[in-house]
Amino acid sequence: MLEKFLNFTRDLYDPTASGKFIPLHEPRISQREKDLVQDCIDSTFISSVGEYVGKFEKMISEYTNIPFAIATTNGTSALHLSLVALGVGQGDLVLAQALSFIATANPIAYCGASPVFIDSAKDNLGMCPEKLEDFLKKETMINAQGVCVHKASGRAIKVCIPMHVFGHPVKMDEIAAICEKHHIAVLEDAAEALGSFYKGQHVGRAGKLSIFSFNGNKIVTCGGGGMIVTSDPELAKRIKHLSTTAKVPHAWEFVHDEVGYNYRLPNLNAAFACAQMEKITEFVEDKRKTAESYRQFFASVGTRFIVEPANCRSNYWLNAIQLESLQERDEFLKASNAKGVMARPIWKLLPTLPMYKGSISTSLENASFYEARIVNIPSSVRSC
Ligand SMILES: Cc1ncc(COP(=O)(O)O)c(C=O)c1O
Repeated sequence: MLEKFLNFTRDLYDPTASGKFIPLHEPRISQREKDLVQDCIDSTFISSVGEYVGKFEKMISEYTNIPFAIATTNGTSALHLSLVALGVGQGDLVLAQALSFIATANPIAYCGASPVFIDSAKDNLGMCPEKLEDFLKKETMINAQGVCVHKASGRAIKVCIPMHVFGHPVKMDEIAAICEKHHIAVLEDAAEALGSFYKGQHVGRAGKLSIFSFNGNKIVTCGGGGMIVTSDPELAKRIKHLSTTAKVPHAWEFVHDEVGYNYRLPNLNAAFACAQMEKITEFVEDKRKTAESYRQFFASVGTRFIVEPANCRSNYWLNAIQLESLQERDEFLKASNAKGVMARPIWKLLPTLPMYKGSISTSLENASFYEARIVNIPSSVRSC
């Protein structure tokens, strides 16, 4: 299979057979990005005040059809700010996936809270609704103030962070309904999922808040950047205030009314992002074509290719395959990388990392199964 895969991927990404290195995901940058960044430089508004930040927010809001968007320095700061705005503080617990990128968990720790790790679904790389419900039913109660509390530790659980792995939407309806029943707010980590749709609507609508990342490896990038989206005008207002050092508007005085953050995206990055956002539809179409080619290829060699869940339209941010065993995975990774075709394993389970060892978690058999077998393969946009 490996030789066939290498030839197939070379044909996709290196049709002139130049023998070049094929990365996992590289950005596509055109003259338009250069023009808008130059325009931003010429305006001298290169920091977080400037028209491109507002334009970028409007583009995201229109594209996702979510009324409010607040730009941040990156996806991690977007998650941190969201948790603060949802009232997560010292000693609280936050529900998260065991199989996720580290940036889903770290902002929980920044708040002085601790993650509770939930298993992946059997048929979906995202959070398992059954395991989530089972944990909440058996191990939590609603206290007199209407807050969900972990019975054994007495710690409050205010937020759940489902994550759309590689752009494939999680089982959002089920997760949102369970969280609502247990008085838990949903914060969607849609960092990887700009351009993905769940039951006909862009992801990010089910949660009270949702975030996107515009890191260099994402479908749309601005070097580094993030966005929080919400339908709640009060939350949007508070988040914008918190992201700009909680400065109270005044013609000259420096008045700050709470501990704020310097998390607003610079105009320079936003200019770049606006140029990229003009191509989001093309980028998604291109990636979906690549995914379909991979799907057909892997069907022909008998390897499972991860496809979009039912009722979803995924952006196929990173293509992924499932190998038979840890040994086969390691052999594949070694050989593919040695031949200049970049491949990467899925993340290590977060509760196995030193800072999250001993965290509360459900049983993690599905996440462990995927951890040993899932591999990402080259996924950059090809034709734009
Ligand atoms: C699932 C997930 N959450 C959060 C982040 C954090 O985003 P950023 O790198 O922009 O801080 C990323 C990606 O980088 C991610 O993949």
